[in-house]
Amino acid sequence: TATADPATADPTAATAILAVPASRGTCPFDPPPAYERAREEEPAAPVRLWDGSITWMLTRHQDIRAVLGDRRFSADANRPGFPFLSAGRRALATMNASFIRMDDPEHARLRRMLTGDFIVKRAEALRPRIRAIAEDLLAAMTQGRSGERAGHADLVREFALPLPSLVICLLLGVPYEDHAYFQQRSSTILSNTAGLDEVRTARADLNAYIKQLTEAKRRRDEDDDILSRLIRHDDLTDDEIAAMGMLLLVAGHETTANMTALSVLALLRDPVQLGRLRADPTLIRGAVEELLRYLTIVHTGVARVATEDVEIAGRTIRAGEGVLCMINAANRDERVFPGAGVLDVGRDARRHLAFGFGVHQCLGQPLARTELQVALEVLLEGLPNLGLAVPFEEIPFRHDMLVYGVRSLPVAW
Ligand code: HEM
Repeated sequence: TATADPATADPTAATAILAVPASRGTCPFDPPPAYERAREEEPAAPVRLWDGSITWMLTRHQDIRAVLGDRRFSADANRPGFPFLSAGRRALATMNASFIRMDDPEHARLRRMLTGDFIVKRAEALRPRIRAIAEDLLAAMTQGRSGERAGHADLVREFALPLPSLVICLLLGVPYEDHAYFQQRSSTILSNTAGLDEVRTARADLNAYIKQLTEAKRRRDEDDDILSRLIRHDDLTDDEIAAMGMLLLVAGHETTANMTALSVLALLRDPVQLGRLRADPTLIRGAVEELLRYLTIVHTGVARVATEDVEIAGRTIRAGEGVLCMINAANRDERVFPGAGVLDVGRDARRHLAFGFGVHQCLGQPLARTELQVALEVLLEGLPNLGLAVPFEEIPFRHDMLVYGVRSLPVAW
């Protein structure tokens, strides 16, 4: 086994891609070629982060699956060596005690209180309501209530963002009227570039907002939503409830919104795949998995820190060293997905790692899947002539976020 000391290792060309990407070269349709090189030549590559620290970048499907399924790698951001992508992210992770950044048994204790709300059966039961919400949004959009030119709209603002936002508000018992307030804060929390003060303020605002909401619910003691049910748990502190509420609110809408907008964009750009879905809507379920794989919106990597020396990809990762699991690179690994660079809605893409893997695997994935399937069904059925209203080159991608997305998606029909 080759051992490279990351403290002295010379960061490879891959380093550049961990700097906040500013160029269009990193749009999700074309992941940086450096990932491919790393995956084939240096599957555990030492890279230098913004603060000068060195961490290991993993790019192969098999290695990432191994790390995310291995309890010797910790998700606890308070452990020395945990890799952060910015000062703001470090500040946030160390003050925000939500279970995504905890190890078992604490992680399991808290996650267990929510699993019942996010099982597949629950997401399926919600499907008709999600569909009704999507149809209402589409009707509002096509009737031009937003003041746009007839037959034109920003799909992000009118459809992709409000859909998951309305759904998570419904589930949590958060008033949707407040969406401008929490969406602005969530966006800062998910930013890779927001400064320390900005992140602290956003987090404090959201925390205060959820605490106020839970206080009101406690007084009423009647609502049957997730927050109200958490309040009735005896062994949860107010801080724990606020952290869980915040995690769900933040993770629950930006991710699905960006996936929806990028999925539509990917299909509009690829008339053959779009035509296959229009001709046979039963392909939509599989297409959603393929789009999750192809787009992999969590583009900045899933972070862990080794608690013991572990051999991965021909290297020894020492206790206290960080790893960044580039799930976007893993989802383009030819060893698992032949022709990985091509979007193929008929492909069996179920082994993708877009929702992570192991104990922290996305809690909301059944809900996200249902939302994405419904969104595509409703859009394809309702808008047979849907197309882009601007050239692809003018689409404003968001490079500055933990999850990939577009600021707006001008469409016409
Ligand atoms: C965790 C992706 C939608 C709630 C994760 C992780 C990924 C991910 C990669 C693993 C993070 C890690 O291991 O450190 C996505 C994507 C989504 C999506 C791509 C949409 C397409 C949602 C939704 C919800 C949600 C809709 C909630 C309503 C969570 C929670 C965790 C999580 C609570 C933490 C789980 C744990 O630590 O045990 N998500 N997510 N996500 N996600 Fe999602």
